[in-house]
Amino acid sequence: MKKVGIIGVGEYLPKKVLTNADLEKMVDTSDEWITTRTGIKERRIAAKHEATSELALKAAEEALKDAGIKPLDLGLIIVATITPDMQFPSTAAFVQAKLGAKNAAAFDISAACAGFVYALVTAQQFIARGCYKNVLVVGAEVLSTVTDWEDRNTCVLFGDGAGAAVLGEVKSGGFLSTYLGCDGTYTEILNLPGGGSRNPASHKTLESRMHYMKMCGNELFKLAVKIMADAAEKALEKAGLSCDDITCLIPHQANIRIILAVAKRLGLPEDKIYLNIEKYGNISSASTATALCEAVREGRIRKGDIVLLDAFGAGLVWGACVIKW
Ligand code: UT7
Repeated sequence: MKKVGIIGVGEYLPKKVLTNADLEKMVDTSDEWITTRTGIKERRIAAKHEATSELALKAAEEALKDAGIKPLDLGLIIVATITPDMQFPSTAAFVQAKLGAKNAAAFDISAACAGFVYALVTAQQFIARGCYKNVLVVGAEVLSTVTDWEDRNTCVLFGDGAGAAVLGEVKSGGFLSTYLGCDGTYTEILNLPGGGSRNPASHKTLESRMHYMKMCGNELFKLAVKIMADAAEKALEKAGLSCDDITCLIPHQANIRIILAVAKRLGLPEDKIYLNIEKYGNISSASTATALCEAVREGRIRKGDIVLLDAFGAGLVWGACVIKW
């Protein structure tokens, strides 16, 4: 098996900023409530012409540049998203065409907020077994298109954006352990019920707002803390490491209180956590992807550091991986 690591990172955030003050004019909420309950101050919103693949493309171009490789060097493109351009073909196919990555196979992964971690783990397998030399992984979402802007329980939480990573063979370090999980008995507490084969799009599905996300926030909160802490512990155990070995935790950015509760359970000091929830909110698969990119760019992750990615989302699904940079 070959050693596999992340050799380039990139991100793209749409220009438009939606602040808590803006939301105060749209629904019955307040900056104080959103800040104290979630840690979010603002989020980005894609322009009308920006579908998920456009965001993904820009993040991918940056990651390729950072890795020092060309689109034609890619053997595979995986896009993690729950807001694809279309039901089919895959968003990865759109990205492949826009990049001109003619040598790359392409597919999407649907694992909600754990999508980027699921995609990294999948990509790593292909390289470790010698199937591909370079794989592009993107987490990209335009959640503003599936957000009910009349529902204060959800509309204050989400945003749009994309993050990308290029994986390749490395001489030392790289992925030390990976861990993925799912409990499909919880599909009811976070989903988008309309538009699929169970509830095909109709006047009725539109009138009952079934094409927007539905969430039981409270129940999810408790599950998230337990699941993320367990996933982190499992990944560390598989790597033969403890929390003290971690330089930087890149958690899914759903709620600052969830993240701090997870860190407390793990016994991880707050200064080891990378946060970007304040400026972007929850961008599902793009949350860990953008956080990883920014942590690298800001020098919070350097050569030799041990990084722990930890995410959970609708399914429920979860995933964690330990990477030596
Ligand atoms: O990405 C993975 C999936 N997402 C998550 O993991 C999210 C997990 N859940 C959460 O982050 C939190 O549960 C929320 C941020 C969604 C909600 O925070 P909470 O502290 O659990 O609040 P709550 O749902 O218990 O609601 C408390 C009160 C309610 O009012 P009453 O019934 O006590 O009168 C809500 O109606 O807060 C009210 N509320 C709001 N008030 C002002 C709910 N949303 C808002 C709002 N502004 N935007």
